[in-house]
Amino acid sequence: MKHIFLNLCLACLLAACGTKAVDYAPIRPGEIWPDDQGAHINAHGGGVLYHDGKYYWYGEHKSDSTSNALVGIMCYSSDNLTDWKNEGAVLPVVENDTTSDIAKGCIMERPKVIYNEKTKKFVMWFHLELRGQGYRAARSAVAVSDSPTGPFAYLRSMRPDKGELPFNMTEEERATLDTLNAAHYAKWWTPTWRKAIEQGLFLKRDLEGGQMARDMQLFVDDDGKAYHIFSSEDNLTLHIAELSDDYLSHTGKYIRIAPGGHNEAPAIFKKDGTYWMITSGCTGWDPNEARMFSAPSIWGPWKQWPNPCVGPKSEITFGGQSTYVLALPGGKGFIFMADVWRPKHPSDARYIWLPIEFSEDGTPVIRWKDEWTMNHFE
Ligand code: DGJ
Repeated sequence: MKHIFLNLCLACLLAACGTKAVDYAPIRPGEIWPDDQGAHINAHGGGVLYHDGKYYWYGEHKSDSTSNALVGIMCYSSDNLTDWKNEGAVLPVVENDTTSDIAKGCIMERPKVIYNEKTKKFVMWFHLELRGQGYRAARSAVAVSDSPTGPFAYLRSMRPDKGELPFNMTEEERATLDTLNAAHYAKWWTPTWRKAIEQGLFLKRDLEGGQMARDMQLFVDDDGKAYHIFSSEDNLTLHIAELSDDYLSHTGKYIRIAPGGHNEAPAIFKKDGTYWMITSGCTGWDPNEARMFSAPSIWGPWKQWPNPCVGPKSEITFGGQSTYVLALPGGKGFIFMADVWRPKHPSDARYIWLPIEFSEDGTPVIRWKDEWTMNHFE
C-alpha cells in the first residue's frame, strides 16, 4: 500500500514538472543481449555513434568457432540504447577473392564509425590483419558510407605515419633514436631492451614501412578534428595520430603515450576539458586490470591514474576488456563499454555496459552493477 502511495506521489510530482516517467528496460552487464530478432547481438569490440536522434552500434561479427572474420562488420540501430535492430553486415568480407585485404578469414577488429560534418560521410576505421598472416600485418583500414547503416565502401589499409617521427620528440630524443641499433637488442624483456623500447627502438624499426596499428579507437574533438588512437610498436606503446579533415587518412602528426607500457583496448572521452582514456594490459583474450590516463590536451602530457573499476572482479575489469566510452547526447553522462571474450565460443562473447560516475574531485569511477537502467542519467 505504502509502495503504491509513493509511486502515485512520484507520478504526480513528475506530472507537475511536465515530465513523463520513462520505463527504461534494464541493462544487465555480462548477460545475453537479444536483438529485434531474438538473437544475441553480434557486434564485439565495438563502439556506438549517435546521429540524428539514433544510436548505431558497430562491431565485429564473431562466429561460433573462430574469431576470424567470416561475415564482416555489423551494425545495429536503436532509439533508446536497449532495443537494437539488426541492420546487417555494413562492411561484409569479400567472399571470392583471397587477395582482397578483407578476404573472408581475415581479422577485422574494433571497428569505430565517426561522422564527418564537412563531407557528410560516415567514416569507419578498424584494425585489419590479412588472411593467413596471424597478427603480423598490424594494419589500419578505412571505409566510407553516405548512410550510417551502410553499405560502407572499403578504401584501403596501411600502417600509419610512414616516415614520420612524433611531432613532440625533442632534438635530444631524436639524437638518442639515431644511436639505437636493433642488432644490440636481439633478446627481449631485458632492462636494456626495455630502455631502448622507451627510447623508440621499434618506432625506428617501423619508420620506413609505417607504424604497427592494432587495438584502436577514434575520437572527434569539439572542434571537429578527429584522432586515431592505437596500440603500436608490437603493442608496447600507444600512439595518438591526427586524421585529415575528411577523416580518411593520417596527417603525420602524432605522439607516443606510455612508451613500453603495454596498453591495449583504448577508450577515450572528454569531460570538462579533461581527456580521459581507459585501457587494458596485454593478455590476449584473458581479462586484466584496467588502466586509466588523463591529459589537459589530446597531445598530453598524459598522466596515469589507478584502476577506475570498483566492485567484484574489479582487478580484472569485471572479466571484460574496454572497447568504448559513449558520451550521451546533451552532456547527460558517459557509458563505459567492455567485451567479455569467449575465445572457445567467440559468438557467445558478452557486453559490459556501466555508467561512469565521477568522484568529488572529478575522477571517473566504474562501479559494477548487476542491473541498471538509463534512469541513472535522468
Ligand atoms: C586483445 C585485443 O584487445 C583483442 O582485440 C584481440 O586482438 C585479442 N587480443 C587477440 O588475442
